[in-house]
Amino acid sequence: METYETLRTIEQDALAELAEVQDEKDLDAWRVKYLGRKGLATQAIKRLRDLPPEERPAYGQAVNALKERLQHAFEERQEALKQRAMEAELRAEAFDPTLPGRRPPVGRYHPSNLILREITDIFKQMGFQVFDAPEVETDEYNFELLNIPAGHPARDMWDTFYTTNEGQLLRTHTSPGQIWAMRQFAPEPIRVILPGKCYRYEQVTPRSEMMFHQVEGLAIGHHITFADLKGTVVNFVRQMFGPERKLRFRCSHFPFTEPSVEVDMDCILCGGKGCRVCKYTGWLEIMGAGMVHPVVLRNGGYDPEEYTGFAFGMGPERIAMLKHGIEDIRYFFSNDIRFLSQF
Ligand code: DAH
Repeated sequence: METYETLRTIEQDALAELAEVQDEKDLDAWRVKYLGRKGLATQAIKRLRDLPPEERPAYGQAVNALKERLQHAFEERQEALKQRAMEAELRAEAFDPTLPGRRPPVGRYHPSNLILREITDIFKQMGFQVFDAPEVETDEYNFELLNIPAGHPARDMWDTFYTTNEGQLLRTHTSPGQIWAMRQFAPEPIRVILPGKCYRYEQVTPRSEMMFHQVEGLAIGHHITFADLKGTVVNFVRQMFGPERKLRFRCSHFPFTEPSVEVDMDCILCGGKGCRVCKYTGWLEIMGAGMVHPVVLRNGGYDPEEYTGFAFGMGPERIAMLKHGIEDIRYFFSNDIRFLSQF
């Protein structure tokens, strides 16, 4: 019986000591002391020799059972210590797992691109395709071929950035793209829109920037009339600004169209009564347009006796300003996230 007494003592001591163990190092020392090859529980098997043979199996089982219980207690303690260490670490880092995660900043489309997409979507429905033309242009394409010869007073409408290469400039409008499109497709009928950047050597003000976008439109074919231009523009404006919009076509002059008009729509803010946005006129100017001038048709490769066409040009930033009540065009290009993230 004394042998079993010893086993119990070993177990009690072991468990009492284990409860005191506070770290990995002490835990390992404990394991060596009791469960190691020379550990007390392991060595207890040696008592077998002192027992009569018939008692040996029972004693052997008792020693094994003790070792299992100690092993189990060891693992539990090990797990508890690990848990405690993790909690301490979390507390030290002041990590609060209940806080919401930080949202990674997500990019978005620039408001100019958004409005360009809206505009092109509307014209695509009407069978227009998008055509790309160069931003670095020649005097010939930007002016001459559009019926604006050197020295023509109409050139005053476009203050130009010239490059140091003779005759090379940054396009002042998307209209030279008309020539590129015509020369690519003539004599096929065409319906294209040309969205893109333009540059003007101008004072930057709330209403004008040095760089901005335009969307040019061009339709050429047989029997195209001013009524087609009106229908196209009316459909566009009503899709963009609402079905109740009224339009006004006012006589104007552009060298590349004849007749030429400027298109006004009734003010979306005051509905035509007059307010600050429409400068108390009740109308907002949204684009220039007209029937393609015979000289321009010919420069593009179309016989003006056989073909007619219409063209228009608008500023998408201006369209977006009207749509969203933005008061200063400079917001578009000053890269202020507080502005850009609103779209
Ligand atoms: N290119 C003109 C401008 O920049 C706008 C314009 C007017 C374009 C009439 C056209 C048009 O195609 O027919 O001011």
